[in-house]
Amino acid sequence: MKSLLSLLLAAAPAWAAFEWDNVRLGGGGGFVPGIVFHPKENGLAYARTDIGGIYKLNADDSWTPITDTLASSANWGRWGVDALAIDPQNTDLVYAAVGTYTNSWDPNNGAIIRSPDRGASWTVTNLPYKVGGNMPGRGMGERLAVDPKNSNIIYFGARSGNGLWKSTDAGKTFSKVTSFTNVGTFVADPSDTTGYNSDIQGLAFVTFDSTSATTGGATSRIFVGTADNITASIYISEDAGSTWAAIPDQPRRFLPHKGVLSPEENALYVTYSDGSGPYDGTLGAVYRYNIDDGSWTNITPVSGSDLISGFGGLSVDLKNPGTLIVATLNQWWPDGQIFRSTDSGATWSRLWQWGNYPEMIKYYSMDVSKAPWIQTGFLDIDSKWLGWMIESLEIDPTDSDHWLYGTGLTVFGGHDLTNWDTVHNISIHSLADGIEETAVQDLQSAPGGSELFVAVGDVSGYTFRSASDLDTAPDVPWNNPMFSSSLSSDYAGNVPANVVRIGNGNGSPQLALSTDGGVGWALSSTVGSVYSGGKVAYSAAGDAIVWSTGNSGVVRSLNQGAFSSVASLPTGSIVVSDKRNNSYFYAASGANFYVSTNSGSSFTRTGPQGVFTAIRDIAVHPTRAGEVYLSALEGIFRSTDFGVGWTQLPGLTNTFQIALGVGSGSSWNLYAAGNGSAGLRLYGTANLGNTWTDIQGSVQTFGAIDAVRLAGSGNVAGLVYVGTNGRGVFKAQGSLPGGTPTTTSRTSLPSTRTTSTSTSSARITTSATRTTVTTVTTVTTRTTSRTSSAPSATSTGTAGHWQQCGGLNWTGPTRCDPGLTCTKQNDWYWQCL
Ligand SMILES: *[C@@H]1O[C@H](CO)[C@@H](O)[C@H](O)[C@H]1NC(C)=O
Ligand SMILES: *[C@@H]1O[C@H](CO)[C@@H](O)[C@H](O)[C@H]1NC(C)=O
Ligand SMILES: *[C@@H]1O[C@H](CO)[C@@H](O)[C@H](O)[C@H]1NC(C)=O
Ligand SMILES: *[C@@H]1O[C@H](CO)[C@@H](O)[C@H](O)[C@H]1NC(C)=O
Ligand SMILES: *[C@@H]1O[C@H](CO)[C@@H](O)[C@H](O)[C@H]1NC(C)=O
Repeated sequence: MKSLLSLLLAAAPAWAAFEWDNVRLGGGGGFVPGIVFHPKENGLAYARTDIGGIYKLNADDSWTPITDTLASSANWGRWGVDALAIDPQNTDLVYAAVGTYTNSWDPNNGAIIRSPDRGASWTVTNLPYKVGGNMPGRGMGERLAVDPKNSNIIYFGARSGNGLWKSTDAGKTFSKVTSFTNVGTFVADPSDTTGYNSDIQGLAFVTFDSTSATTGGATSRIFVGTADNITASIYISEDAGSTWAAIPDQPRRFLPHKGVLSPEENALYVTYSDGSGPYDGTLGAVYRYNIDDGSWTNITPVSGSDLISGFGGLSVDLKNPGTLIVATLNQWWPDGQIFRSTDSGATWSRLWQWGNYPEMIKYYSMDVSKAPWIQTGFLDIDSKWLGWMIESLEIDPTDSDHWLYGTGLTVFGGHDLTNWDTVHNISIHSLADGIEETAVQDLQSAPGGSELFVAVGDVSGYTFRSASDLDTAPDVPWNNPMFSSSLSSDYAGNVPANVVRIGNGNGSPQLALSTDGGVGWALSSTVGSVYSGGKVAYSAAGDAIVWSTGNSGVVRSLNQGAFSSVASLPTGSIVVSDKRNNSYFYAASGANFYVSTNSGSSFTRTGPQGVFTAIRDIAVHPTRAGEVYLSALEGIFRSTDFGVGWTQLPGLTNTFQIALGVGSGSSWNLYAAGNGSAGLRLYGTANLGNTWTDIQGSVQTFGAIDAVRLAGSGNVAGLVYVGTNGRGVFKAQGSLPGGTPTTTSRTSLPSTRTTSTSTSSARITTSATRTTVTTVTTVTTRTTSRTSSAPSATSTGTAGHWQQCGGLNWTGPTRCDPGLTCTKQNDWYWQCL
């Protein structure tokens, strides 16, 4: 035994594999459009996200991601989940409809995925059309359902006019139900040329009546909701799906979001909104359909001036027939509302109501200790506590006290829901621990400074002071000022306590500075309200900022003075700073590389000409002046003399983000997202590319490779970070083989010190990797990143889409971003539409 063990140890590779888990925010950070409980097993539930896959609930209220293997770069769209279903007869089976966009943004058709083991493994059935997990109407549902009497029968309600699809072999194959012809009429915005808002929304939900008779081994009565506000929106089959008809006397004015069966009551409850969601809706209704006598009852919980929102989430308490809860979909001010009825909707009580204005009497306590940044970043500064975009609202079918609901920000819920009926006071908790669904925009790790800066869409950003903090949800987001989306940050290499970050808001200052490693921040007093978005770089001594803005070209500020244009750089340039020499900045635009020797005041084109088709990223050595790496379709190139001479590193082509991080001993590892021996994935090298190791491994996927953000730790050997578009930040620690870097197989490029004589003769064609360049395909770069949670309004400037822009006692912005109109919803709330 002993000798065998030592043999095994001797045979083990001299490097340690990288195993990925999340840097913990603990609070989701994005929209959770659907949650599905299994009716037969206590606490068995799944949550779907719009761009970050599916999670399974654990007994301790935490969640485990179960689709991390599915979103390879070629199939990144599979993290967009448009519908989720369990098999009511089998506690192990899970199904989902995946695909992110039905327009050109997602290159692939959608799929139905199915798991025999609660998400531990999956089989994929491709569909002949696209699925839209991040499209309008994604909170309707569920549009996928398994027949409660026959596990082989599954229906899927598709988008884009594709209608109703059915499987009779437990999801192995699907075919169109040709007798179902009402494929939905609703289109959110027919004039949208991107195809995003102009697509037919399609079907909203499929609900079986488990109490109906069995016809030919299948449940006979099936309800299908469609996005149609003109003719009819709810269809019924009484013959197991052979024929369909609109239910008579149904309400026709709004779009149905949820159709939930209450089996003991023989009733179908339906929420309606005048928009398809998830951000909209100013009017709606709740109805009860009595299956026995075919009557519809309007049970909308509020009326008149109280009715200012559509309705989304709806759940019945299966253990107490006649008890149900309903949520406003988007009541943006002062907060969303949840209603509860114990008499089938005849009367309702609320989770809060007005006291003496502006007092809100809250019949709940709120605990967000699993994600304290929700308190400091949201609850402390906003009246919206219950949340917005409430499409999923579920009572555990086996436990009347256990409930969960998803918002645009997180998952809330609790374990004492029936206290509502006794003391009318319940405990709400943030319950998204394990769900990490931020869209990461930038990552930085400062040697000798803070371990990790995370800039994210929708929920600002976060500083992790040291590696020991990475598993603890932060106390604060990037706050004061909070930019709803942060796009970039940088630290000053020689004084890493100095940090800069930028946001992409409109009409208010969008640059903040920290002098304590990214804990406290101050808004720049000189930046003005024009600049927004893009990428920022901070000089090594922290006196110069070069900002390649998203809207106004490249600008620079010295000693916190006014920003002025950097005329020598094209709009949209990539900008980075040398981390040791305060005089140097580097930039790239298209095929051109630029250097500044005067702290960003001006830049000069340098380096080889005609070698790169387009430079995609620049990485600077975190501790060595003048050592620069750039990433392009043609691969990775390195300079050790401030960008004058360049050498190509072997092994990878078609690279996107690259980053350096502490390696073993005094060496540094280079990490790259690109094309190597294992295809498009994540690699690391300890020897300048002589050996590349696939550090992604065979299990983990990160979505589209071109959307991946990378940082190597500046402080901890072998620790590397990957930011994703919708699955948060991953981290892994390992060691790489390779030993001391050598230079033998690298190709030196002829360099031109100045740009004035650039001719085609400088183009090199000697290296073997160069000859393959023209055959390399570029990964499609998506043109949008999602806005999953609604941004909070900035206190000055203009308000964005869906944001508040007026109302009694409103002190925020009263103008909207271009193209939007400030529209009165009620005396207290005006919104940019
Ligand atoms: C249906 O919804 C669209 C888009 O909101 C709206 O323009 C139209 O007036 C609605 N139709 C009816 C009949 O309400
Ligand atoms: C509900 O309970 C919480 C926590 O004890 C308390 O803060 C709140 O005031 C209570 N609400 C009402 C209306 O009594
Ligand atoms: C930065 O580079 C310039 C130009 O090469 C050089 O003169 C200067 O000494 C360097 N500064 C530091 C601190 O190394
Ligand atoms: C990856 O590299 C291989 C080998 O050079 C090449 O055949 C393939 O087309 C490349 N794929 C991508 C997506 O760059
Ligand atoms: C709201 O504004 C009105 C005047 O428009 C004022 O009388 C009232 O005190 C204000 N309420 C609050 C809470 O500020």
